[in-house]
Amino acid sequence: MSFRDDGRAAVDWAARYLEGVSAFPVLAQVEPGELSSKLPPSPPEEAEPFTNVLRDLDELILPALTHWQHPRFFAYFAVTASEPAILAELLAATLNPVALNWRASPASTELELRVVDWVRQLLGLPEGWHGHIEDAASTSTLAALIAARHATGRNVVICSEHAHSSVEKDARMLGMELRKAPVDQELRMRSEIPLDDAALVVATVGTTSFASVDPVRALAERAHAAGARLHVDAAYAGSAWICTEERWSQDGVELADSLVVNASKWLLVPMDCSLLWTARPNEFRQAFSLVPEYLRTPEDVYALSDYGPVLGRRFRSLKLWAVLRCFGAEGLRAIQRRHIELARLFAGWVAADPHWELAAPQRFSLVAFRRKGSDEENEALLERANRSGEIFLSHTKLDGRYVLRVAIGNARTTEEDVRRAWEVLNA
Ligand SMILES: Cc1ncc(COP(=O)(O)O)c(C=O)c1O
Repeated sequence: MSFRDDGRAAVDWAARYLEGVSAFPVLAQVEPGELSSKLPPSPPEEAEPFTNVLRDLDELILPALTHWQHPRFFAYFAVTASEPAILAELLAATLNPVALNWRASPASTELELRVVDWVRQLLGLPEGWHGHIEDAASTSTLAALIAARHATGRNVVICSEHAHSSVEKDARMLGMELRKAPVDQELRMRSEIPLDDAALVVATVGTTSFASVDPVRALAERAHAAGARLHVDAAYAGSAWICTEERWSQDGVELADSLVVNASKWLLVPMDCSLLWTARPNEFRQAFSLVPEYLRTPEDVYALSDYGPVLGRRFRSLKLWAVLRCFGAEGLRAIQRRHIELARLFAGWVAADPHWELAAPQRFSLVAFRRKGSDEENEALLERANRSGEIFLSHTKLDGRYVLRVAIGNARTTEEDVRRAWEVLNA
């Protein structure tokens, strides 16, 4: 078989999968180790045709897969790998540029700068911010920590008790001291915490558990008065700023020193694609730029590796470009508005039913709720619902109490899917 024939078969496979994905159980119905026991313990000595790989994708991999592309995937933050971006991934791998610096990949360097700037415009962020792509929000925030420590000479990071665990992990990896601030009634970080020796304050817009929004303006003003930098983690919710009615959550973000928004969360781009902007590009360059002899070039242009930890960068901007062009801002807005509307609908059902209660106000496309009853009942209910294969939800805790979450983020999710989730939970 040729690359062309195998390629057609692979695209056919992908199209068939996406057309039929709702027929699979959302959560993999396997036990730990089940796939491992079916995989050969040692590598093949002889070459096989690619068709064997496709066959085993059906026979071995799919049964052990939790289907993130399923319209009734409501766990964590639900995501979508859209068709234009899937094809762009194929093309990016085909070209496979390794953007060590501009010369090594002028096209991906310049396209990345341009499309990240397009997103900056769509989200209504300040002109002049420098944006580039990292793999994940964990890395983007790591970069912000490194730049802030380098610029301030301080070693303390401050975030809310509801900040994502990546902030704590990043601080731990760097040997920085992390202080977690308490939250108010609305689960917003209290801004009164002392910031005197802080290198960086991390404010979250759209916390992972409840999508709460920290008071970015107050935190930015206090951080700057104390000589610290302010980083905003809007990995999930920042994408919603394409819709102007969601920009209430952007108040003060224009004062941030850096900001992360994951295009791989709510902008239809497949894993991985994390957009990192900074208002202080010089500080990032001072922290990260290191050019060994073999990378010196006659062109006086910087490399995007001057803004983060990694040298060899893949062609992630291609898929973002494809999404922005093939959906347009209008198309992206329409999908997000539908998700938010579906979350509102679900939250309405919860609020109206005497057996259920909202754990926090519905924000963006996330609903945090619980059945009135014990934590054990809620936990058992969630496990039964997930085991059914009909829906997949995840949980969190608030003040020690077990809370269920419905996160709507898949472009295929319809009102019928959300109704089905409600029926399964009530059954
Ligand atoms: C608010 C927030 N920040 C950061 C992260 C970490 O994202 P990543 O997996 O891209 O590192 C998440 C993950 O869901 C998140 O919800």
